[in-house]
Amino acid sequence: MSAIESFSAFMQRALYDPQRGYYTARIKTVGARGDFSTTATLSPRLGKAIAAWLKQESRETGVRTMIEVGGGDGSLMKSVLDSLGWWQRLRLRVFMVESSPVLTSQQKTRLGKRVQGWFTTLPEALTACDGRALIYHNELLDAFPVEVVEWDGTQWWEVWSDHGAHEDLRALNLDTSDAFGVLRSKPDKRQRCELQSCVHQWLKQWLPMWQRGSMLTIDYGDDFPALYHRRPRGTLRAYLMQQRLEGVDIFANPGRQDITCDVNFTDVRTWLREHGTREQSYESQQAFLERLAPSSPSKADAWVARGDGAGEAFRCLSVRRA
Ligand SMILES: C[S@@+](CC[C@H](N)C(=O)[O-])C[C@H]1O[C@@H](n2cnc3c(N)ncnc32)[C@H](O)[C@@H]1O
Repeated sequence: MSAIESFSAFMQRALYDPQRGYYTARIKTVGARGDFSTTATLSPRLGKAIAAWLKQESRETGVRTMIEVGGGDGSLMKSVLDSLGWWQRLRLRVFMVESSPVLTSQQKTRLGKRVQGWFTTLPEALTACDGRALIYHNELLDAFPVEVVEWDGTQWWEVWSDHGAHEDLRALNLDTSDAFGVLRSKPDKRQRCELQSCVHQWLKQWLPMWQRGSMLTIDYGDDFPALYHRRPRGTLRAYLMQQRLEGVDIFANPGRQDITCDVNFTDVRTWLREHGTREQSYESQQAFLERLAPSSPSKADAWVARGDGAGEAFRCLSVRRA
């Protein structure tokens, strides 16, 4: 248990070990009563904007199956369905893809018959709709395991560690098809960054099966190199009972706390382009909400949209497979 391992192996185990992983077994819920809150659990406004995006994309692509991936406690899907008119609800088939048994059962309680199918992987869901789907996900990619790399002034190394007690910088051993922007850079000073090779693996698994439709990716993150501006230790952190933990505390309670980092949208956009999708829009969450769900914001809505907080820290990326 305490052997030295890559950070990515540690994070995979801490979040997804079948018996003891945070998401697979230990998570109680998402939101105010859980370890972390998400935009979706704080305000229905995001659901309203996604419903408007779905209507528009369904009209323009002719696709009538919608899939939410990693829907947490089901709050976001509930506000999306509440915001779609009865006619759209009748026209659209609704699928959820969720890898956590705990959260799948919360989604079933919250959504019941409003959802026509639950799947544990996106390829299974795509098989059930002949590859024609409108896909969306909120704060999914930030939950994938990451490699941590460090620039020592001369070259990039991968960080291995013994639960944070000792660290070892080892030679990189990565798939060159990942083409990480970070690894082509030469920072002036010592710098830590995260690489999202698991996100690329995930995209490679299902993109070839996706025949037609649109995808909306919402997450905190930024383009590279802006993402690491004034963040020499990178963006990795953990959440336990709404408290943010950094450094060695990330290793303190494996399986009992969420671990996450910002999404490098430069890499994600490059991979999506390389796999033949066409980018429709890329904007801050604030701009996305103003465009698709303009309203006089309540206190919770204001938090979701505010320029110095969630609204600017989050990005909304919409791509199409036509
Ligand atoms: C940070 S939570 C976000 C929850 C929800 N989207 C929200 O905004 O409240 C990440 C979610 O993604 C799920 N998840 C992680 N990896 C997944 C995968 N490969 N396929 C499907 N769901 C996944 C987790 O179980 C959890 O529901």
